[in-house]
Amino acid sequence: MAIVENWLPPSRENWELICKIWQWFPVITAAQWLLDWYPQGKTSIISRINIPGKIGWATMESVGFISLIYIMYTLPGELRIKELPWGNWTMAGCFVIHYVYRAVISPLFLNPSMSPIHPLVWILAFCFQLCNAISLGGWLAGYGPTTNSDWAGRYWAMEIGLVIWAWGLLGNMFHDDDLREIRRAAARKQKKEAEKLGKPAGSVDKVYMVPKNGLFQYVLFAHYLCEWVEWGGFWLIGGWNCVPARAFLVNEITTMLPRALQGKRWYEKKFGKDKVGNRKAVIPGLV
Ligand SMILES: NC(=O)c1ccc[n+]([C@@H]2O[C@H](COP(=O)([O-])OP(=O)(O)OC[C@H]3O[C@@H](n4cnc5c(N)ncnc54)[C@H](OP(=O)(O)O)[C@@H]3O)[C@@H](O)[C@H]2O)c1
Repeated sequence: MAIVENWLPPSRENWELICKIWQWFPVITAAQWLLDWYPQGKTSIISRINIPGKIGWATMESVGFISLIYIMYTLPGELRIKELPWGNWTMAGCFVIHYVYRAVISPLFLNPSMSPIHPLVWILAFCFQLCNAISLGGWLAGYGPTTNSDWAGRYWAMEIGLVIWAWGLLGNMFHDDDLREIRRAAARKQKKEAEKLGKPAGSVDKVYMVPKNGLFQYVLFAHYLCEWVEWGGFWLIGGWNCVPARAFLVNEITTMLPRALQGKRWYEKKFGKDKVGNRKAVIPGLV
């Protein structure tokens, strides 16, 4: 059963259209180079229409993996494909594992606190997730490789890609957790002081410090860098001609790079250039 006829799951015509439009997404992100206004995270604003951070992240990011799973289970039937090859399921699995961590485990169970999100950022992220899921899902569920022989001869590249993807994911998780530890430590400290004074402990919302462990020694957005490595590996699994995996990586980089540069300016303003030192924004030694 289709949720939206010819769109979810997509007809071939509509899938090709989404894939074409999706490759132009970097043009939209050009606005991020010109504007410093980004009402989320460190640069969140106070607004009556803000969405609470944890709920915002969980809802805007979940739409991607849920739509991808839905397309994987509905499109093959419509196209009379009996069984998708294991290479397709491997890539779908990589995507789902990442987003279960990003959209469910991270905001709802691990992050001590998250700044509120403006609805505009939420809507853009929601659209990003939906376009990406249709683009990747269409390729994986019937408009890309449909037999094991379509993957034949590329097993070495798939294995290397899978290893790169896994290291990227682990690096992303490690650096995410280093940021969490800053707030967990602040919460422990506040709890101790509150117990001494017999008062309730305060919140750790908006507690920031300059992270220092792992690749944070070299770049302020090490978690972004690791995520790019992860989706670089994912593209390698799909192969050079996997346009949706390439578009996903390019679109992530074009939206996260200006955000990281803005974040570096934010760190320098808040903590001073001395404290930030030689660290780059996201690529060691470069930017
Ligand atoms: N932003 C994007 O465009 C984007 C796109 C694709 C994937 N992602 C991935 O999603 C994850 C989160 O992205 P993000 O842009 O929200 O990252 P972020 O701004 O670095 O924030 C991540 C989390 O750590 C907290 N935090 C950040 N810097 C901190 C510091 N110096 N001290 C203490 N806590 C700190 C944040 O709290 P606050 O919310 O209170 O600031 C938030 O809970 C990353 O792993 C990234 O790779 C992001």
